[in-house]
Amino acid sequence: MSDKSASYLQQLFGLDGKTAVVIGGTGVLGGAICDCLAAAGAYVIVAGRSEDAGNARVEALKAAGGAGEFAAVDVSSRESVQALLDQCVAGGHAPDILVNGAGVNAATPFLDIPDEEWDRIFNINLGSVRVASQTFAKYWLDEKRQGSIINIASMSALIPLSRVFTYSASKAAVLNLTKNLAREWAEQKIRVNAISPGFFPAEQNKKVLTPDRVESIMKHTPANRFGEPQELAGAVLLLASDHAGSFITGENLVVDGGFSSMTI
Ligand SMILES: NC(=O)c1ccc[n+]([C@@H]2O[C@H](COP(=O)([O-])OP(=O)(O)OC[C@H]3O[C@@H](n4cnc5c(N)ncnc54)[C@H](O)[C@@H]3O)[C@@H](O)[C@H]2O)c1
Repeated sequence: MSDKSASYLQQLFGLDGKTAVVIGGTGVLGGAICDCLAAAGAYVIVAGRSEDAGNARVEALKAAGGAGEFAAVDVSSRESVQALLDQCVAGGHAPDILVNGAGVNAATPFLDIPDEEWDRIFNINLGSVRVASQTFAKYWLDEKRQGSIINIASMSALIPLSRVFTYSASKAAVLNLTKNLAREWAEQKIRVNAISPGFFPAEQNKKVLTPDRVESIMKHTPANRFGEPQELAGAVLLLASDHAGSFITGENLVVDGGFSSMTI
């Protein structure tokens, strides 16, 4: 690559001097999102419940030349999310980018879904987006700073996906909230977008990916394979960057190997 094109790409997608907070950075997709943000120059706060997984991710991104730290957070607690923001600011890493990537799933037949399970999945998948967006956007608005929020929704937010009723409904609500917050804060330069991954083997879906399920997923995926976590990088960097993504807000980028375009 010539110096000229490298400098052009750096200007469009480079995140030097920016801080990115990745909630769920301890997970499979969140971890890959941490890696790409760090590789693009951001200081990455790997936020999650597992200190071991978070520290391992921090070590990995440092080994690749990046910078960051672990921060504990439980998204079911507003106090914990506020403490995460406070830790970033107190450490001199005021956030510029927030990735809402915590998520849980269950494959319970619809008639058997217990109230507790419905509430827990909605609380993590949708409630975390609400609480973290309130917390971080309030900070940005008070400080007159711009920001970028990236919500990890799901391809199942767009088309009904059998077996995961609560999960799909919660992710559809994430997309609705994404657009509403994009509308709400566009003038203040807080952009709010979503990424909807298709099928990527991870912790939260390993019980759902039974052999018969995998077979039908492959039949329905034009790319005929699962996604690799690092294949989210292009979408993440586009939406994170205030240059490449400057006029993009309220958007949902589907990264699913064509799954949601498949009909027969
Ligand atoms: N893997 C896929 O195929 C796929 C597809 C579409 C969307 N997604 C979404 O991507 C995101 C990442 O999931 P993943 O597939 O990497 O699974 P994962 O299980 O590896 O990661 C999920 C993360 O959420 C965290 N989390 C759960 N509850 C939390 C809480 N109370 N507080 C803080 N963190 C909490 C977990 O600790 C974990 O780090 C989720 O929102 C998921 O719904 C995944």
